[in-house]
Amino acid sequence: MNPTSAPAPHAIEVERLTKTYTIGTTVHAVDGVSLNVPHGSFTAVMGPSGSGKSTLMQLIGLLDAPTSGRLTVNGRDVEGLADEERTRLRGKEIGFVFQSFNLMPKLTVLGNVTLPMQFQGVAARERLRRAEELLARMGMSDRLHHKPNQLSGGERQRVAIARALANEPTLLLADEPTGNLDSRTGEEVLRLFAELHAQGYTIMLVTHERRVAERAERIVHMEDGRIQEIEALTAATPPPVAHGGRRDPANRRHAAEVLA
Ligand SMILES: Nc1ncnc2c1ncn2[C@@H]1O[C@H](COP(=O)(O)OP(=O)(O)OP(=O)(O)O)[C@@H](O)[C@H]1O
Ligand SMILES: [Mg+2]
Repeated sequence: MNPTSAPAPHAIEVERLTKTYTIGTTVHAVDGVSLNVPHGSFTAVMGPSGSGKSTLMQLIGLLDAPTSGRLTVNGRDVEGLADEERTRLRGKEIGFVFQSFNLMPKLTVLGNVTLPMQFQGVAARERLRRAEELLARMGMSDRLHHKPNQLSGGERQRVAIARALANEPTLLLADEPTGNLDSRTGEEVLRLFAELHAQGYTIMLVTHERRVAERAERIVHMEDGRIQEIEALTAATPPPVAHGGRRDPANRRHAAEVLA
């Protein structure tokens, strides 16, 4: 990152973003979405099935490329980036949590959490230390050598969250993270998100449930690939941002600590 550049005012800036699929017919999955996501904010995304929530999250999470429009992540215009840089930005800045966990079935819990650090070139010893620390905070210390199919849904999602945090990202994106969990396990996962938000993470979470969305500071309502409304849930107090519009890295460095 260029240290002389002006600090990014938002964690994510989306401008007239579109994603069009053509399989027989043309579907405007995301149809001209503009949205600013402040640093340290907690945003929920709601909307009917097929309204483009997952597509939008995948674009923001750099898992997919838009058809048109502009996207910046922590001030970096994604379009201008070479593939390699984009992959690096995703690996370093973004943690993604999926409804279906998406753990590697052949790897152990420890293997799943250390893998993204390996991609970022973190030394083996440090990978292990960080993974063990994160998993301890997730209450998973006695499952380090289990495979995903030997875990409950809630345990799998906790591993997936540990994995998402492994490279100490600034941004946590979650697509229906409680969708496959019973309400009590879902509640535990939501509590983790609330704690991570308190710690300074920027969080965006897709959900079908109003009750879940209300844990956020605002709800983005989508329909037919567009934002219908942005509903503020709390009084508009600016997030406690460290100078430069960026969270104090020391604050989020040991995010695992709040998860105890
Ligand atoms: N890879 C793809 N190829 C073609 N069409 C797609 C693809 N992914 C999504 N779509 C279409 O884009 C639209 C938006 O899909 P998306 O998955 O973003 O919806 P969603 O809001 O996440 O829905 P749900 O609540 O059911 O998860 C849908 O009409 C879907 O059929
Ligand atoms: Mg979806």
